[in-house]
Amino acid sequence: MMHDQDKDDSSLDPDDWQHFRATAHQVLDACVDRLCAARDLPWQPVPAAQVAAYGLEGAGRGEAAMAGRMVAEIMPYATGNTHPSFFGWVHGTGLASGLLSEMVAATMNANCGGRDHGLIYVERAVIDWTRRVMGFPETASGVLVTGTSQATVIALAAARTWALRQVRDDGLGGARLTAYAGNGSHNAITKAMELLGLGNRALRLVRQTATGMDMAALRAMIAADRAAGLQPFAVIGTAGSVDLGRFDDLTALADLAEAEQLWLHVDGAYGAWTRLAAPPWHGLTDGIGRAHSLACDFHKWMYVPYDCGLVLIRDEAWHRAAFAARPAYLESQAAGLAGGEPWFCDYGTDLSRGGRALKVWAAIEAYGADRLGAAITRNCQLAAGMSAAIAADPKMRLMAPVVSCICVFTANGTLPAAAQSALNRKIAQELQLAGTAVFSTTSLNGITVLRAAITNHRTRSVDIINAIAAVARLRDG
Ligand SMILES: Cc1ncc(COP(=O)(O)O)c(C=O)c1O
Repeated sequence: MMHDQDKDDSSLDPDDWQHFRATAHQVLDACVDRLCAARDLPWQPVPAAQVAAYGLEGAGRGEAAMAGRMVAEIMPYATGNTHPSFFGWVHGTGLASGLLSEMVAATMNANCGGRDHGLIYVERAVIDWTRRVMGFPETASGVLVTGTSQATVIALAAARTWALRQVRDDGLGGARLTAYAGNGSHNAITKAMELLGLGNRALRLVRQTATGMDMAALRAMIAADRAAGLQPFAVIGTAGSVDLGRFDDLTALADLAEAEQLWLHVDGAYGAWTRLAAPPWHGLTDGIGRAHSLACDFHKWMYVPYDCGLVLIRDEAWHRAAFAARPAYLESQAAGLAGGEPWFCDYGTDLSRGGRALKVWAAIEAYGADRLGAAITRNCQLAAGMSAAIAADPKMRLMAPVVSCICVFTANGTLPAAAQSALNRKIAQELQLAGTAVFSTTSLNGITVLRAAITNHRTRSVDIINAIAAVARLRDG
């Protein structure tokens, strides 16, 4: 029975679309203004009063009021990775194309778990393009995910199914699988081992040389584990380690994986994209196309807005063996919206998934592989430039060779270790708070060091020179 207070229309659409259009244009203008001014807008802390003001009481104020608050109170407090002197962790910078593609993706509001609609084909196009860049065969499959952390879980789940066949039905059944990765590999791999029930101790960390994993040590560890009754199943190569930027010799690892009958997974979170760079950086990932699986991120060194990673699996059958499942309510049809096989829900853990592929498609369509590759090459040249500026300073010390985009150094190598650590921490913090530059820190040989990952298409030589000069000033001041 209808009550008087029941309205026939409970739609949440705007009451007045013309008014909404004006609001939307204002927001778009504010976004473009912000991107245009990225050079003047570094990270800034969020004032405590502002944090408190974010609290929601649940009363709706309408789109225009909400939009005004979003632009004035939320947008200014970003991570700062759009700024050209942001070098912390491994952060991508975003692209103007992403502003447009995110508007379209939100408008389409597609669920890319499956079925027959445009963004499914766009995702397939993005995966196929990446497959060709990385040299994977046509038998490969892939799925876009939040990032390399999730991609690693999916890749190692496929490897676990490859090794144990019935693991989805029977669980591990007492199997003691072991995997091998270089010392300094990312914690995402450890987490994946834990989540898959293999345990972090089953991840053997192999000694690193300047050119990647020590292959003799790796062979010895595999042999010792086999002799102890364990079941080695995967070797994990890193194309660009998070701390020092090292690349494993992927050709040597592919040869070893073949000889030892292991699954080769590559963590190429950012470094896989040197595949688009000019020599000598292009050659860092030679052999990557021989891997059984690859995890990489578009949101890092492809500059695409967060979040977007990819897992590629060499043989689609193993990908599906690990994830495909189709209960009755997900039955597909020969035609109609429930067509469009294969569905992405059969390639990972997510059933409902947004249209992540569009922002990648938009980036490649707008800028092309050549311009994206040139930006990556330029970042490598800038990292080399930063290492030269460090070498030219009498007190700074480079702590590891710069291989692609990562530069690790200490501001004053003449001090005792504890004093160096304290100084480097202080410099990182003060530069961030002043909005001058963002370096992150890491620990090397017991010293907290400064670390730059130059995955920023807005960075110019002058930003590098100014940032190193600012480090020197704070040290000497
Ligand atoms: C080498 C490497 N692997 C894995 C990851 C984790 O990737 P994500 O943050 O996209 O999950 C990172 C992040 O910086 C990384 O540098």
